[in-house]
Amino acid sequence: MATATAPDRTLPFLRRLTKHARIPINAFEEAGTQADGELVRLSMGPFRPYLVTHPDHVQHVFVANQRNYVREGMFWDPLAPLLGEGILSDGDSWQESRRILQPLFTAKYVNSLAERMAEIIDELIEETVVPGQPFDVAKGVSAIVHPTIVRLFFGAKISVADINRLVPAYDVAVTAKAIRLVMPFVPDQFPMPGDRPFKRAIETIDDVVYPRIRQARAQEQVGDDVVSRLCRARQDDLGAEGDRRIRDDLVAMHGASTETSATALTWAWPVLQAYPEIAAKVQEEIDRVVGDDRVTTAHLPDLVYLRMFVHELLRLYPPGWILPRMAVETDVVDGVTIEAGSTVLLSPFLTHRLPKFWDRPLVFDPERFAPGNDNRRHRYAYWPFGAGPHVCLGQHLFMMEAPLLIAGILRKYRPVVHHEGPVLPRLASSLRPVAGLSMTLVPR
Ligand code: HEM
Repeated sequence: MATATAPDRTLPFLRRLTKHARIPINAFEEAGTQADGELVRLSMGPFRPYLVTHPDHVQHVFVANQRNYVREGMFWDPLAPLLGEGILSDGDSWQESRRILQPLFTAKYVNSLAERMAEIIDELIEETVVPGQPFDVAKGVSAIVHPTIVRLFFGAKISVADINRLVPAYDVAVTAKAIRLVMPFVPDQFPMPGDRPFKRAIETIDDVVYPRIRQARAQEQVGDDVVSRLCRARQDDLGAEGDRRIRDDLVAMHGASTETSATALTWAWPVLQAYPEIAAKVQEEIDRVVGDDRVTTAHLPDLVYLRMFVHELLRLYPPGWILPRMAVETDVVDGVTIEAGSTVLLSPFLTHRLPKFWDRPLVFDPERFAPGNDNRRHRYAYWPFGAGPHVCLGQHLFMMEAPLLIAGILRKYRPVVHHEGPVLPRLASSLRPVAGLSMTLVPR
């Protein structure tokens, strides 16, 4: 990056945020369009974060000078009581968790998780779908995605009662703090809606998670679920402190995997409805590859178009739409001085919509991800799973989960979404579609 500095460009943002109070992502989208890849500051009174969208700048913050940009401040501090000091923290505690977790996610283990996932998703589609009855899309998707992850992570021994306590508690925990995400200048001591439900949700999660950890430890960790593997990896790290470290990694991973997957898979249905030609290609491929079988991981390599569809879904609707970092020391990025202690906002949502890097950026077109096309892109123009040392540990698992779920539904049902016009995002820490979107699955 250049070392010469120029006066930074500041965009007024507070009024924009007030104008789009119900859908703040629109305020960010407007600012992103105005900045057009330039590194700008967003003025929200005394709080003036930097907005980083250009792929070169993303590379600088996430890779080249990654150590200078830590997970602190906006977004991270309010969520810290949930996420703890494990894989979603930073510094030494994060490094230790990454050292323990990364080897767990070998291709072999991820494939074995995906095999199990295929069975669970199939069972849950059977159990939860009521054909011909309208249902809330987000709730319906979550009713499959969330128990799938819980069963994979916690093993078959987790009771239905515990699953039924964990699932809503996580939902509350990851959404309750949304308002603090867009109002980071409000001090923690100042009570905000969502603070108390957030606290109660953490208590519920801990009530389920700690006994499961102790049980896995007592059974000498024979299982192959994620809890048992984590316990084995930390077998020398005993006592309350060791249990807490396992808890932090487990809860952080659980949070990172369910909210993101469920959000992405909720967008699939309105998009399929909005683009009938694309939907027809997806359907044709599933019918040809899967036929009347149950969907298994063996089908995945042949579901090429569906994979392209999922990538395009993550381009336009990346669930982790905003990732803040805090600058430890003053840095200069492309001539702009980033002051020590300031917040830097990175957004795959905005990078993925830059006209300089994407032809017709707002058009949904899976062909962008046809095999071989990724060589033509800037490496950091597409990063729904983050980049650099903090890159997502679950991306391959998700790229198997998504086709398993979409094909599992489409092989049996024709989806009808009850909505006119474009489906808009709503305020949440991940990019969720508007509440109350409903759909019917009609048997084919
Ligand atoms: C659509 C699905 C998913 C998306 C879009 C997604 C996105 C992301 C992003 C953007 C990051 C980087 C966060 C940062 O830089 O601060 C991340 C990190 C992470 N993701 Fe995912 N993720 C998804 C699914 C999953 C799944 C299924 C798992 C489960 C194993 C998972 C586990 C993690 C973990 C553990 C990290 C932290 C890595 C680290 O900091 O070292 N994710 N994810």
